[in-house]
Amino acid sequence: MTRVGSRPWWRDAVTYEVYVPSFRRARPPDPDRPFVPFGAVNAGRLAGHVAGDLEGIRSRLEYLEWLGVDAVWLTPFYPSPLADFGYDVSDYCDVNPAFGTLADYDALVDEAHRRGIRILVDWVPNHSSDRHPWFVESRSSRASDRRDWYVWRDGDPDRPPNNWRATFVDAPAWTWDERTGAWYLHLFLPEQPDLNWANPEVEAAMTDVLRFWLDRGTDGFRIDVVHGIGKDPALPDAPAETAAVPWSAQNDHESTHAILRRLRRVLDSYPGDRYMVGEVFLLSTAKVARYYGHDDELHLAFNFPPLFAPWDAEKWRERIDRVEEELGPRGAWPTWVLSNHDVKRHHTRYGSEARARAAAVLLLTLRGAPYLYMGEELGLEDAVVPPNAVVDPGGRDGCRAPIPWAPGPGHGWEGADRVPTWLPWPPDPDARSVEVQRSDPGSMLQLYRRLLALRRTSPALRAGSWEPLPAPPGVLSYRRSLDDDSRVVIVNYTTSSHSIPLEEPLSVQVSSTGRGEGTRFSGRLDPDEAVVLG
Ligand code: NOJ
Repeated sequence: MTRVGSRPWWRDAVTYEVYVPSFRRARPPDPDRPFVPFGAVNAGRLAGHVAGDLEGIRSRLEYLEWLGVDAVWLTPFYPSPLADFGYDVSDYCDVNPAFGTLADYDALVDEAHRRGIRILVDWVPNHSSDRHPWFVESRSSRASDRRDWYVWRDGDPDRPPNNWRATFVDAPAWTWDERTGAWYLHLFLPEQPDLNWANPEVEAAMTDVLRFWLDRGTDGFRIDVVHGIGKDPALPDAPAETAAVPWSAQNDHESTHAILRRLRRVLDSYPGDRYMVGEVFLLSTAKVARYYGHDDELHLAFNFPPLFAPWDAEKWRERIDRVEEELGPRGAWPTWVLSNHDVKRHHTRYGSEARARAAAVLLLTLRGAPYLYMGEELGLEDAVVPPNAVVDPGGRDGCRAPIPWAPGPGHGWEGADRVPTWLPWPPDPDARSVEVQRSDPGSMLQLYRRLLALRRTSPALRAGSWEPLPAPPGVLSYRRSLDDDSRVVIVNYTTSSHSIPLEEPLSVQVSSTGRGEGTRFSGRLDPDEAVVLG
């Protein structure tokens, strides 16, 4: 990919999120290193089930290179009791034996780099596991050296210190700890106590964690709940109107920005444009924009309002305008996400493959860095998870179903022909498998590959400006341009055909339906069709 000017690689990159337990297993399942989420709903049934491993990811880098992605974000693979499937870390500098070893990680990074793919690690700074030695020590005594590494408050055991609500459970964000007679804060599960970032020792220890992974060649970090780390020391109540909303979606304290500026300096001191993309789960683009600072905080931030927008041209136009207005003046580079491991897949949300295909054209041609969620390139829908197979208290099992690599028993997962995978397969695993779609030129997978290839050759699509073009209601049309490269994108959000008069003769470079590619655009869009013209 030719570099546009002096832009760092991550501005132009397409990143692919690998949800580690569900990508692929390569080594035979080892009964001594099981994947058994602690405390999860129905956890007991998972003993002996198959989950992914790091070697499974390394073994499919060839696929990711063929697909054409630039970077891979690995969800947490640290030692963990798995109460939140790895987002409860009990050792930030090691690998969960269920997934492999540090040597496997190093081998994965080496091979990814040989193939021109960057690796991002998911860093979870807001909270650790309650089994982390830091918390074990902190809760052991009020006199512990690590007491102040977490957020403790004295008080009445019947009255939490404020009205903040936890996430995934309908309960306060505070748990009373009998041993020392005090409350501790957890924006998520009680097994995920919040670290106290107001304590410089915590920042120093967590900065060492970043250095540990940077020194191993890690190219960047996806930062979990980054807007959560700085807390108002006065712990004010949530406003009455939003009191029922988990505090993890509201915490937005000034102190986080100074911390981010210090972390930014650490990353920028390493060669190779290391970067951080933060999960800022605040459903306001104006608030998200502040986490870029003045190009001295996060390099990139997730902006989720579009992810929660319905499939509707006007709603999307509004979300895109907001991004242009809020991020543009700061020179902040946008990010775009349609699916991830926390929400229903967009094929399921939008209700049809035709729409999911059109959405892929949109995602990969907007101004900014797209993040793909593994399996969206296969058009996967959420798995149907029967009540006795539910494991996540947050109701997110469906989008976390394993990737079918091949048709037939086990779907290309080592051991899965004999014992079941930890979650059921998504619908139509044979027809949706990588192997079947790789050999079908009309498949969703081949559409993603064509779009990724087009982005690589088009400076306008990767780095150009975004300008809306006139379009009938229900249709979104825009131009991306940079120097003498210009592309027009038209997305039909409706189930009717539309005629789109164009002033210039353009040819179809990619169509979500595959129709007419390489020929002059007829001016007609089929229902749910999206095209890139040039
Ligand atoms: C956001 C992560 O994406 C989600 O999976 C996790 O449960 C929470 N943060 C808590 O770490």
